Amino acid sequence: MRRLILALLLAATTLTHAQVSTIAPTLVPTPPMGWNSWNHFADKVTEQDVKDAADALVSSGMRDAGYIYVNIDDTWEGKRDANGVLHTNSKFPDMKALGDYIHARGLKFGIYSSPGTMTCARFAASYGFEQKDADLYASWGVDYLKYDLCSFEVLMAAGQIDHPNDPEYANNMMKDAYAKMRRALDKTGRPIVLSLCQYGRDDVWKWGASVGGNLWRTTGDIFDNYDRMAKIGFGQAGLAPYAGPGHWNDPDMLEVGNGHMSHDEYLTHMSLWAILAAPLLAGNDLSKMTPDTKSILMNKAVIAVDQDPLGKQGDRLKQDGDLETWTKPLTGGAIAVGLFNRGKTDAPMTLKLADIHISSPTKITDLWTNKPVAPKDGQITATVPTHGVLLLRIEP
Ligand code: GLA
Repeated sequence: MRRLILALLLAATTLTHAQVSTIAPTLVPTPPMGWNSWNHFADKVTEQDVKDAADALVSSGMRDAGYIYVNIDDTWEGKRDANGVLHTNSKFPDMKALGDYIHARGLKFGIYSSPGTMTCARFAASYGFEQKDADLYASWGVDYLKYDLCSFEVLMAAGQIDHPNDPEYANNMMKDAYAKMRRALDKTGRPIVLSLCQYGRDDVWKWGASVGGNLWRTTGDIFDNYDRMAKIGFGQAGLAPYAGPGHWNDPDMLEVGNGHMSHDEYLTHMSLWAILAAPLLAGNDLSKMTPDTKSILMNKAVIAVDQDPLGKQGDRLKQDGDLETWTKPLTGGAIAVGLFNRGKTDAPMTLKLADIHISSPTKITDLWTNKPVAPKDGQITATVPTHGVLLLRIEP
């Protein structure tokens, strides 16, 4: 009997979550692309920086390459008034006008909050004011919300102490908090992408879509160095089954152009994120891009791998020490293949075409040089530079 009750309860929980949103599944059919203020500007970001980013998305050609979200991360928040309405701080004097500025350039507007009482940078967050905040965002024309767990973890810890016999209590609090904001966003009538940021807690990829998330961070924060980027990126192996149109794994934002990785390391970053069907949110100062940064962020063929309409995330095919082969299925039976060298010296790498089940490809292209590649004896061999990649598109 107890089992039956438990099974019914579980079914009811799943059902509630499945019904959280009818809007969410229709958003972001391919991984969202755009810019976010955090990686470069962090808590220093101002309204002018955001306007400059919007202008640069247009003038650089990034908007037309697909980067359309302009996302303000933490530290825009001011104080709540007596009616519970949140105000901006002095860095952001007029959010509605800023939203209009962004929309006037054919871009979309993203904002940031937390389900806790405070954001990660200790600014006011949405706990207890979810609907008020959602309504406020909608009135500003917000199209995307990054909802960052942070101080909600304190509430979860307290909840777990109060419910020691229910090991899932804290995790259910977290799921409910995300579902609550999804419902609040939907109630505004404005389609708003919901980005879950809770660093992968409780295998978020297994339930993120059921609470109406459109993307969910699978890890802690990225930094602009190869070791951290590689740890996160290559650590995504096995998560492919959980991503698809409308709901994506998010290994965190791009560091390309922030200056602390080599050219080959940034090629690895961009190639791996494309194979992972990861959201492509540039995290650099777009108003000061070198030609090299632009060419990495705006390589159309690489973006097409990320944005392929099939919406399948890639995964690791093979690992031989520091040498890893990753593949991503693409529309029409094509396959993107990344041969990654994580080692400290250049190394020869080989791809056997039999391993990807395309024995006689009609076309093989090196996506970073845009040159054709000819197989020999059913395989492709190349020297891959240290921390670098050979990224191929193979047509059946
Ligand atoms: C957390 C998030 C980051 C960023 C900061 C802002 O660390 O993971 O991406 O949003 O908070 O405070």
